[in-house]
Amino acid sequence: MASVSIVVPAYKEAQNIPVLVERLYTAFDSSDHSCSVIIVDDDSMDGTVEAVSRLKKKYPVQLHVRTRERGLSSAVLAGFALSKGDIFICMDADLSHPPEKTVEMCDLIEKEGADFVIGSRNVAGGSADSFNLYRKLNAFVSRMLARPLAKTSDPMAGFFAFRSSLYTDQLVSMLNPVGWKICLEILVKMKPENVREIPIVFAERLYGESKLSLKEQINYLVHLKRLYYHKFKGLARFMVFSVVGASGIVVDLTIVFVVTDIAGAPFKYSRIAGIAGAMTTNFILNRYFTFEERPARNIFTSYVSFALVCSLGAALNWYVSMKMHSGFGMHYIIASLTGIVAGTFVNYAGSTLLVFRK
Ligand code: GDD
Ligand code: MN
Repeated sequence: MASVSIVVPAYKEAQNIPVLVERLYTAFDSSDHSCSVIIVDDDSMDGTVEAVSRLKKKYPVQLHVRTRERGLSSAVLAGFALSKGDIFICMDADLSHPPEKTVEMCDLIEKEGADFVIGSRNVAGGSADSFNLYRKLNAFVSRMLARPLAKTSDPMAGFFAFRSSLYTDQLVSMLNPVGWKICLEILVKMKPENVREIPIVFAERLYGESKLSLKEQINYLVHLKRLYYHKFKGLARFMVFSVVGASGIVVDLTIVFVVTDIAGAPFKYSRIAGIAGAMTTNFILNRYFTFEERPARNIFTSYVSFALVCSLGAALNWYVSMKMHSGFGMHYIIASLTGIVAGTFVNYAGSTLLVFRK
């Protein structure tokens, strides 16, 4: 028999909470575990407080209303901080996650030695039929991007359980979620050994509407980047830097095309515009994404030093390309690629050690 703390982040879920709590306690009543539910509400003022005080007469439900902080992930962490059970569970308030499955999760941990259990829509028997095509495609791309981080079929899951002894103070101090993917965050940093997935049928929410916004999708990219840095360190940063560099090629060529063909300027000027434009977008992306967590220096001086570093990179690029082609008789495309790689290394070294240094 295990004691279980169930954390439910909630924002404007007054109608759903009573149904959820009833179903949870009914399920636990016929199991050999005991549970207590902790609802973390971000000051919804929609009758949640009243609904929970009615529930309290019957069940051990705890309500934590936050007035200063907001956001799904931080709400979940606040809930875990109040949890005391042997097993911690996180689930949505809107009944998208079948409450009865929590018992199965606890059994896997208690009786089969699982450390972490994910309610997945992407294993046999699971599904999310109610999703439209856009959400399906979106979910697919998001899933692929998370692949190298953790072995799970559903990195976007919001329904998971784990052994609370693995939730150490040291782990808590490492957690730094930006967006919604708190399960992925904990999974990557906790590194539990025995991870199990159980199928869930993700139901359409009972009442109200989803709070998943475009902002959350952008946050997801920022979050993924941080997790890649956590797991793969400098190598990941170099990859991100290279992708930003590649985006600069697109910017450069677009500007050259527009300035030459549409504005009708001579090529020698449009070429300068292209280089300057790409250097600028690369600088901005690197400052606010690649090196996001490094302390920001004066933007003007960093821009100038970035331009200098890139010029050095370009010079090396040119020199290596020439040497490979004329000196070693390499095909000019291969010679140029070699030059690009050499230039990228210089740009990266200069950026990480100088322009955006710690
Ligand atoms: N406290 C608090 N604060 N709770 C929040 C907040 C917030 O700012 N934003 C959302 N929630 C709660 C909701 O009340 C709900 O209980 C849960 O978090 C999920 O929010 P929904 O608005 O229902 O999101 P969804 O159904 O689109 O997303 C679900 O599916 C995604 C996968 O498709 C969630 O389970 C996500 O975690 C999951 O990634
Ligand atoms: Mn939902």
